[in-house]
Amino acid sequence: SSSAAADGDRRRTRVLVVGSVNIDDAVRVQRFPGPGETVGARSADTALGGKGANQAVAAARAGAEVRMVGAVGAGDGGPLLAALDADGVGTAGVARLDGVPSGRAFVFIDDAAENSIVVVAGANRAIPDAAVQEACRTLGPGDVVLLQNEVPAATSRLAAGLAREAGAAVVWNAAPAPESSEELVDGHDLLLVNEHELGRLATLLGAADIPPALNSNSGTRPAAVPRTGSEGTAPIRPTGIETPVDRLVAAVAAATGADVICTLGAEGAVYRVGGETGRAAARRVEAVDTTAAGDTFAGYFAALAELPLRERLRRALDAASLAVTRPGASASIPHRDEVRRLNA
Ligand code: ADP
Ligand code: NA
Repeated sequence: SSSAAADGDRRRTRVLVVGSVNIDDAVRVQRFPGPGETVGARSADTALGGKGANQAVAAARAGAEVRMVGAVGAGDGGPLLAALDADGVGTAGVARLDGVPSGRAFVFIDDAAENSIVVVAGANRAIPDAAVQEACRTLGPGDVVLLQNEVPAATSRLAAGLAREAGAAVVWNAAPAPESSEELVDGHDLLLVNEHELGRLATLLGAADIPPALNSNSGTRPAAVPRTGSEGTAPIRPTGIETPVDRLVAAVAAATGADVICTLGAEGAVYRVGGETGRAAARRVEAVDTTAAGDTFAGYFAALAELPLRERLRRALDAASLAVTRPGASASIPHRDEVRRLNA
């Protein structure tokens, strides 16, 4: 198709992910055990995980040229690096540390597809500054640096500062939710959060109230709702600030000076980008495992930086909605052709 040809002509977006790499132990249970209770598992699987690695894989599957900075244990990190390599993610910036275990996540998934996760930080806590500095040396305008909140904030802030100096865009997925203002990464251009993380950030930033002047799209609302022709395509349209979530998104955007996108699970997402507030619906799917939904959205959104906002949002939402129809973390992240076919 002509759009495939256009995609082929475009320079691939270069994405540098600075973040966590984990061994994920995914254990399926009928229901979560209560305190003092033991339950049997339906199944258990070990795979590559960590928000950083998942987002790197998502960005690579979306078609970007991806490099990763992080750290794994020298003893147990081999399979993690091999899994990143298999997706074409550059791992030269992932340090192999002696005497430290790789990060590990124990992920419990119940029959309602909810997950409950315990994370051991391990090597993720000790990413060498030199690895960040070395990887950021080749950044330039048009590149995207993608950060999360599973490595020390000092590491993320170092990367954000170097990225800005180089003219690269900084996308911060503030997940898991920061516990204190010490974990805030300033100097980002775009903040990606879910509803819970949004609430926490608003509190930490003291941004719970928005000035009345922000309570509109300041004349940017178009007369007609844009629609695409294909059936089942999620509508994406400016709404103005209507709901409490819209108000929080606008407040956090005002407090940080950055664009904000808040994903809402099956409800899709609210965005405030370039001063426009709008809503994007998610595709209706049958969710079996929501692990890595947010990571799929973040990796795709970072990777598709060259697309117009609506197209970028739709592909990222569609990719995330596909991911929840499949078990697993990185294993469930779709390739760009699968996402494209949804709207073919
Ligand atoms: P997180 O996993 O970070 O909490 P969300 O739950 O908001 O993130 O999900 C991120 C994206 O994944 C959503 O915006 C949506 O595109 C997709 N998604 C998640 N859950 C569902 C669902 N039940 N049905 C359809 N899409 C979903
Ligand atoms: Na999944």
